Amino acid sequence: MNKEAITKLLQPKSIAVVGASAQPGKIGYTVISNLIKGGYKGKIYPINPTANEILSLPVYPSVSVVPESIDLAVVTVPVKFVSQVAEECGQKGIPALSVITSGFSEVGRRDLEDQLLEIAHRYGMCVLGPNIVGTLSNSDKINASFAPFLPFPGKATLITQSGALLIAMDAITYTRKVGFDKMISNGNMIDVDFADLITWLDQDENTSCVCLYIEGLKDGRKFIEACQKTKKPIIALKAGVSAHGVAAAASHTGSLAGAVKVYSAAFQQAGVVQATDLNNLFDRTLALSLLPPLKGDQLLVITNGGGVGVLATDAAERFGIPLKFAPEEVQVELKKHMPDYGSAKNPVDMTGMAGNDWYYESVKFAYTHPWTDGLAVLYCETAITNPVEIAQAVKRAIDDTGGIKDRPVLVSMVGGTRCEEAMQWLVENGIPAYGAPDEAMNAMAALREYYSIRQSLNDTNGVCAPGSSKTAREIIAKARADGRTALTEIEAKKVFAAYGLPVTAINLAKNEEEAIKFAKKTGFPIVMKVVSPDIIHKSDAGGVKVNIKDEAGVRSAYKAILKNCKAYKADADIRGIAVQEMAPLGTEVIVGSINDPTFGPTVMFGLGGIFVEVLKDVTFRVSPISKTQALQMVNEIRSVAILAGARGEAPRDRKALQDLICSYAGMIYDLRDEIAETDANPVLVYEEGKGLKVVDARIILKAKQ
Ligand code: ACO
Repeated sequence: MNKEAITKLLQPKSIAVVGASAQPGKIGYTVISNLIKGGYKGKIYPINPTANEILSLPVYPSVSVVPESIDLAVVTVPVKFVSQVAEECGQKGIPALSVITSGFSEVGRRDLEDQLLEIAHRYGMCVLGPNIVGTLSNSDKINASFAPFLPFPGKATLITQSGALLIAMDAITYTRKVGFDKMISNGNMIDVDFADLITWLDQDENTSCVCLYIEGLKDGRKFIEACQKTKKPIIALKAGVSAHGVAAAASHTGSLAGAVKVYSAAFQQAGVVQATDLNNLFDRTLALSLLPPLKGDQLLVITNGGGVGVLATDAAERFGIPLKFAPEEVQVELKKHMPDYGSAKNPVDMTGMAGNDWYYESVKFAYTHPWTDGLAVLYCETAITNPVEIAQAVKRAIDDTGGIKDRPVLVSMVGGTRCEEAMQWLVENGIPAYGAPDEAMNAMAALREYYSIRQSLNDTNGVCAPGSSKTAREIIAKARADGRTALTEIEAKKVFAAYGLPVTAINLAKNEEEAIKFAKKTGFPIVMKVVSPDIIHKSDAGGVKVNIKDEAGVRSAYKAILKNCKAYKADADIRGIAVQEMAPLGTEVIVGSINDPTFGPTVMFGLGGIFVEVLKDVTFRVSPISKTQALQMVNEIRSVAILAGARGEAPRDRKALQDLICSYAGMIYDLRDEIAETDANPVLVYEEGKGLKVVDARIILKAKQ
């Protein structure tokens, strides 16, 4: 998408409203009225076949008869006329269309979208929508929408797939005093998408933070790339977190991957901060749009109430920014602004005696002290203080240090309407303020998360290069020629081995004698497993025997497996029995992958056994990944303590695990055109320095036409 086209869309010098109406209440009337009320300085051309004048503006029957050039056409004609209107706009040379009209793919009419896109491409026009509310911009005084007014002014920009939510959020900006410059509804996103808008907004001097409401992305990788390149904070609320695709999953990994987990991984890799709900989106946007990131973990909390101080301490820990005691010299100075029975540790409790002066002095000192990476100022309403005056003292203190610069400061005021008034004043004066200490801490955590994920984007600890794919592709081609989309375990292990993954030695025996030969070659004890494309869950079929110690054992296991599997599925195509090295016991983990419809190959890691089945303690990354990201995956599962060596156990070989996950991610990316889902389950991880072994392997191929 070219930048110029989006500039015409978002900063047009002239706008035609095609489907303008003289009838109040119609969308075509509202858009004209909003443009005028919003103070738009460019030319407005109402287009309507019969009207002469709308809100004192001359009306044209078609864009083709407008004497000047037009930058943007806002389309508000019924769906059946949209293609014809687009054709006329193309002929007129209009570079951008904002199509408010509904009635496209959201009601099953994708054909109409294809038609519209074809016309737009033919004329080189960009299309926002269809099925949108329109666009709003405070800095350009454009309300080219049917939302009632421009948002409360500020520096965030909202892009939302839900138009109704845009209108609701527009109104909330006034009650919450969270300022936005632009609000953009992108609806069905047939052309201009999140990535295009994010890229454009990166150079928009009126946008300091991009706030997203996402229902579903079309091109996940384009989104990740655009976000990674952006220098501004991006925050996203993802709606629709039901576990899509789970029902059809053929692998463990497939059944564990829900949209929410994969999106969450993608956001992290894209450098996007996440919000948990609408309120949280506002809380975090307020901080991200007004404050610099929290670059370190030395967060100081100043309060006049022990209770809110403890609540803030708890919340800080919960949100990943636990408080530390302030150093002696900081405590000594802060002690000067509190009674003897106050505490200067952290949280700094000035007690209920704290008035404007103590707040002023403490904030002024703490904000500039080199120890402080960030400052949270809390206040509980008291009868002896005035919240507005406290707010003003805090603001004056910050101003007297030269204003907000390289470290964040925010406020939480707990109380009634007087606190509400004080907080509004603070926000209007550039200091985020929150009604509850945990909201304030959550917003502070967003500033920390933003900094951390951005830092990890600078990670130079390279992506694992995939191994040679020649062998793997030959194995896959053979399976396809056989009419199979599931590889046998032996084939899957050969594919894994081709990418350097440490798999257990395995050979296919066609009869007892061969089984004995392979068992001797591998060395006892061994494991024997059925090999059949018709039996995926081998243990359930009685197709696995472990700890076979001698030749006699091989013979009886061979017979038993065949008998069990025939009983399980009489017509199963049994290709033989795999004779496999029996790996020593270790900690069970699972590594796997899916080919996500939005983001493509995505790798998963988690602890195995009960942890994966019951607790679903797994984590994802869009592939390929770096060594650092692989280590992050190892360290971010809830049960990481088990790998670190719980209850006197020796720590497990996390370095080997990191290497395995990284290579695995490289493998599934390399084979992304072939592979749908994979599992390495279990992988047995040994003590530090002793490596690991992939004991079972599963590869499901993509169905090909
Ligand atoms: N060129 C110019 N004007 C035209 C043309 C044309 N080719 N064809 C028709 N018009 C005029 C009509 O004459 C009419 O003007 P009039 O009032 O003078 O007669 C005007 O365009 C509008 O046409 P109507 O038939 O009156 O249609 P109406 O205004 O009822 O609805 C609309 C049109 C708003 C586009 C409707 O079809 C629609 O899609 N509504 C949904 C919009 C929406 O909700 N978008 C998604 C937002 S997300 C959310 O959920 C909030």
